[in-house]
Amino acid sequence: MAEFITGMKRTHYCGELRPAHIGSTVTVCGWVQRQRDLGQLIFIDLRDRTGIVQLAFDDSTDREIFKKAFSARSEYVLAATGVVRERTSKNPELPTGDIELEVTALRVLAKSETPPFAIEENSPVQKETRLRYRFLDLRRPDMQRTLQARHRLVKVAHDFFDENGFLEIETPDLVKSTPEGARDYLVPSRVFPGKFFALPQSPQLYKQLLMVSGFDRYMQIARCFRDEDLRADRQPEFTQIDFEMSFVDQEDVMAIGEGFIRAAYKKMLDIDIPTPLPRLTWKEAMDRFGSDKPDLRFGLELSDVSGDLKNTEFRVFRGAIDAGGSVRGINLKGLADQLSRKEIDKLGEWIKTYGAKGLAWTRLASTGETSSYEKFLSAEEAAAVRKTLGAEPGDVLFLVASDENSVVYASLGALRCQLARKFNLIDKSQPKLLWVTDFPMFEYSKEEGRWMAMHHPFTMPNPEDLDKLESDPGSVRSIAYDMVINGYEAGGGSIRIHDTELQERMLEALGISPEKAQERFGFLLNALKYGAPPHGGMAWGLERLVMVLLDIDDMRDVIAFPKVASSADLMSDAPNDVDLDQLSDLGIGILPKEQPKES
Ligand code: AMO
Repeated sequence: MAEFITGMKRTHYCGELRPAHIGSTVTVCGWVQRQRDLGQLIFIDLRDRTGIVQLAFDDSTDREIFKKAFSARSEYVLAATGVVRERTSKNPELPTGDIELEVTALRVLAKSETPPFAIEENSPVQKETRLRYRFLDLRRPDMQRTLQARHRLVKVAHDFFDENGFLEIETPDLVKSTPEGARDYLVPSRVFPGKFFALPQSPQLYKQLLMVSGFDRYMQIARCFRDEDLRADRQPEFTQIDFEMSFVDQEDVMAIGEGFIRAAYKKMLDIDIPTPLPRLTWKEAMDRFGSDKPDLRFGLELSDVSGDLKNTEFRVFRGAIDAGGSVRGINLKGLADQLSRKEIDKLGEWIKTYGAKGLAWTRLASTGETSSYEKFLSAEEAAAVRKTLGAEPGDVLFLVASDENSVVYASLGALRCQLARKFNLIDKSQPKLLWVTDFPMFEYSKEEGRWMAMHHPFTMPNPEDLDKLESDPGSVRSIAYDMVINGYEAGGGSIRIHDTELQERMLEALGISPEKAQERFGFLLNALKYGAPPHGGMAWGLERLVMVLLDIDDMRDVIAFPKVASSADLMSDAPNDVDLDQLSDLGIGILPKEQPKES
């Protein structure tokens, strides 16, 4: 039977005990990692969130205690009092490996069924099983460490923003649905049947309202909800480190952004991040790296070879250039002998997922030169392309042509990262941070047949481009900036429009009629009429920051209770059916719909 803790108060954490404690009597509490029964001797490794300590039971141990130790199994919860003594056989792998506890009192506080997997670092267990038994998975030392680091980072944020005069103000979680960007999660209202709240995609409008209210410097560790397709770096509910400030320009916001990220790296990893961070305009980032979140820890930059090919008779290239697209390439230096023809063909298939029709290549291997496209070019054109790409013996050249530059960028940007991973070209010794600035204000949505805000509709357009807002929206730049770390968009923000007229003009440019604008964002437009200060801000994804700081690839590993790709929670089985009574209270009926597969 499980016993009570009364009278056995913990004096130390397991992982804290060291030779300095030898001779003292201590009480520890925790879970049985392992019990080893050697006949006359029993050892139990007891684990808590700080580590493991060895409990020792031998001839001299009280028989009742010995019996309890004998029956202890993995994941039983114990309280043990004992004297710290030096170990006879030390374990240099463990921080507590020089000592053990000679147990004088033991209680079994709870028994445990045999767990579905061993609670240890990197235990080979399926992700799905881990998530079903998340409460056990979280006992693993790597998960404990990660969540402790996440806590630390939030503390660093609170401290940094507090020291810089920011107030944390909570904004609501039940808000008005203002669909623009991702899909909203909706919450039905009981009081107003047929009407809905939305869960906030971010506190954007509220933090702007707080600026209108005169709070001047706001911050919040804010929960955000977006009903979008999930990826390894996206969850339907996530957390932002969010801030907004008044009477500022882009430089002021960036200075605060850099201050926080410096503090984060220093306090979490003792790394000094040099500031100001390097900057690339969006255009430069796309041209050089094919991505608005370039990973600068390796080279493999893109080159535009359209100029070399503008008169070519090879239709695939010429057609792309004539249609307003381009032909660009990457030079994989010195690795021709390590990339077989078969592997190149595989890359050619893979790159199609990014919209490219194919991958053109030249392989300058030691066994001979082969090329998929040079035979279609004149000798001068082929030589010019080689020259632009800086080709030398041993290199592999890759080209992508498309009438849409976005396809060329996306494919080569992805190929660049894929090759860097494949050939271990990523220098992990130092993190690489940068700002990407001057984002286009709009991007054209083919599905919607209209221009959409690339950041959000409250972003200030660059004043130099204002006259093109209606005539040439595609060329309007915004005062928006992203902070990119090791190829992740870690954070982003903008200077906002604080003028009603310009805001209305912007909404109109986005194809949102004044009536629709009033219906959706009336409260913001109204507030702007009552003296809005110039303001701007940004937000980091807390999970993304923890991922880059700890070098973790899967966002689920930095969240205590994450969702899987279908947005379901495997542990609690949410989302679930609800009682018909609950639905009828809300005035809701359900149409039959196919259920997604779990993954
Ligand atoms: P944005 O939409 O760029 O900006 O979001 C800011 C940061 O939040 C993180 N992020 C996510 N993290 C996990 N899962 C997701 N689904 C997800 N979506 C975004 C990213 C991103 O950089 N209100 C503006 C900020 C501002 O302008 O001040 C906003 O939400 O790291």
